[in-house]
Amino acid sequence: MSRKLRVVALVDPELVPPDTIVGVSDEDMADWKMEYDVRVTLEDLGHEVVCLGLEHLGQLAEVQRDFRPHIVFNMLEEFHGAATYEPMVVGHLELLRLPYTGCNPQGLLVAHDKALAKHVLRGAGIPTPPSRVFERTSRAAAGSISAKSLNFPLLVKSTVEDASLGIATDSVVHSERELRRRVQRVHDDQCTDALVEEFIEGRELYVGTLGNQRPTALPVWELRFRRLPPGTPNIATADVKWDGDLQKEWGVMTERAKLPAAWERRLQSLARRVHRTLGISGYARMDFRVTASGEPYVLEANPNPNLSYGEDYAESADAAGLDYESLLQRILNLGLSYPAAWKRQLV
Ligand SMILES: Nc1ncnc2c1ncn2[C@@H]1O[C@H](COP(=O)(O)OP(=O)(O)O)[C@@H](O)[C@H]1O
Ligand SMILES: [Mg+2]
Repeated sequence: MSRKLRVVALVDPELVPPDTIVGVSDEDMADWKMEYDVRVTLEDLGHEVVCLGLEHLGQLAEVQRDFRPHIVFNMLEEFHGAATYEPMVVGHLELLRLPYTGCNPQGLLVAHDKALAKHVLRGAGIPTPPSRVFERTSRAAAGSISAKSLNFPLLVKSTVEDASLGIATDSVVHSERELRRRVQRVHDDQCTDALVEEFIEGRELYVGTLGNQRPTALPVWELRFRRLPPGTPNIATADVKWDGDLQKEWGVMTERAKLPAAWERRLQSLARRVHRTLGISGYARMDFRVTASGEPYVLEANPNPNLSYGEDYAESADAAGLDYESLLQRILNLGLSYPAAWKRQLV
């Protein structure tokens, strides 16, 4: 039995889980399932847990003074409605000298900017689809939207959104005209720059990583469609990720990927390199596409991915011999041992 810890479960204010789920439908639970699963499991592990829905930064110093936590279990995805503020909140924890789980501010910052992360990955020789960025500037710039040296089909997405927000089957474009329309759609609807990548035909694979400077990689997971309508791209659109009816209709599922051992080793090695290259700590999930001949491409890195019981990350950890309790305890231990700068100072 590990040491009993005082843990602050840090969550978005609207995702504070209730004390009991008796009488709550699966649908109502979906929003805060991770927060609930983590809190209950930390308690089962014998830790003392206080759940904090973060509305203003002052709450952090208050809980530090009143509860004297050993660690903060960070489940935030945004602050004041902005995902871009998440690294700053983690930075605030670090300046308060509060250990926390998951990724450090710099890793979050770099990974959440897909265009920047791709530059860093390319610089390290890690394969990622060829791409261009179209900034959200004035309308006059519309004429300059062109594939240039990129080969169609292309996939158009936001440089910063995640959870497949704005990604639909129409995000795959086959002509300059479709490209212009979709880029403008990202500019107008998502109000961000647009990242245009060559569309990688192939399988969609996810690899979890766990660790600080020397991460391990979990078994490879695959997104599969049992009944994909003919002509539909096999991509994780927002509907594929979030629409239960569509998931049933198309037979969407994830499972351990059946791959040649050499492919699995290569993907795991790449996932570990992505983790280190982007300066990620704690736990992350890397998204890949792999062509029929086995050429892997990194799409993006997701630090602090969904940790719900039964979801891909926890399932792939389980396949590696780490049950849910052991996984959460490992994540706490990694947070406690993260070499934050304040721990190296002699003041
Ligand atoms: N270059 C690409 N080639 C093929 N599919 C892609 C490409 N980029 C994104 N996708 C599809 O879109 C999904 C979401 O893109 P991703 O970059 O992972 O963003 P998000 O942060 O929204 O998950 C991917 O899971 C994949 O199915
Ligand atoms: Mg993704």
